[in-house]
Amino acid sequence: MTPPKSVNYSRTTITELMIPAYANFGGKIHGGILLSLMDKVAYACASKHAGTYVVTVTVEGVNFLQPIEVGELVSLHASINYVGRSSMVIGIRVIAENVRTGIQKHTNTSYFTMVAKDDDGKPTEVPPLLLETKEDIRRFMEAIKRRELKAAFAGEFDNEKTRMKVDENVEMLKQERCVIAPETS
Ligand SMILES: CC(C)(COP(=O)(O)OP(=O)(O)OC[C@H]1O[C@@H](n2cnc3c(N)ncnc32)[C@H](O)[C@@H]1OP(=O)(O)O)[C@@H](O)C(=O)NCCC(=O)NCCS
Repeated sequence: MTPPKSVNYSRTTITELMIPAYANFGGKIHGGILLSLMDKVAYACASKHAGTYVVTVTVEGVNFLQPIEVGELVSLHASINYVGRSSMVIGIRVIAENVRTGIQKHTNTSYFTMVAKDDDGKPTEVPPLLLETKEDIRRFMEAIKRRELKAAFAGEFDNEKTRMKVDENVEMLKQERCVIAPETS
């Protein structure tokens, strides 16, 4: 087994100024810009731990609940929360700072699952994670729990019983803001 690497070894921060080219017509930063930065910092963190190139497999917990403005400094703090055989979960905390007031806002925390690949493009084993603090241990355990809950949810949702039979369930749309066209077949 390869020797373990600590969480600190691959801890990565990217800070970027939000320039006007990143803004939408409403003057706020495009969600896609942030996603791209998050993917970049996740890549840097995961590839440092793995010592190989990596690919993004899943993204969880992306909620943009607070807008980011042009002129703010956005820092993305990434650290490795969990490792499997070839997969790694990278937690990313996004902070936007108004440089004039110094006020910071935590805009979101998301989890990227990255997989290490060898030179033939096949998933390859990554070093185990050395957990040095209670925080490291808690994050590792939470990643296991998140994975279990996700699998349970996916299983439940895929269950035959939850497949929507339109005629039997159409009542549920009564309170919704939709209108069923008369010619619907
Ligand atoms: C995801 C991918 C690596 C799986 O490859 P595979 O040959 O099926 O390999 P495996 O089944 O051994 O899975 C490899 C790892 O990915 C994990 N994985 C696969 N699908 C996953 C999913 N939906 N969610 C989380 N982890 C997943 C597996 O659990 C496994 O982790 P482990 O080694 O730590 O146990 C492969 O499908 C792939 O390369 N996808 C494209 C990724 C990509 O190009 N991303 C960029 C998007 S533009």
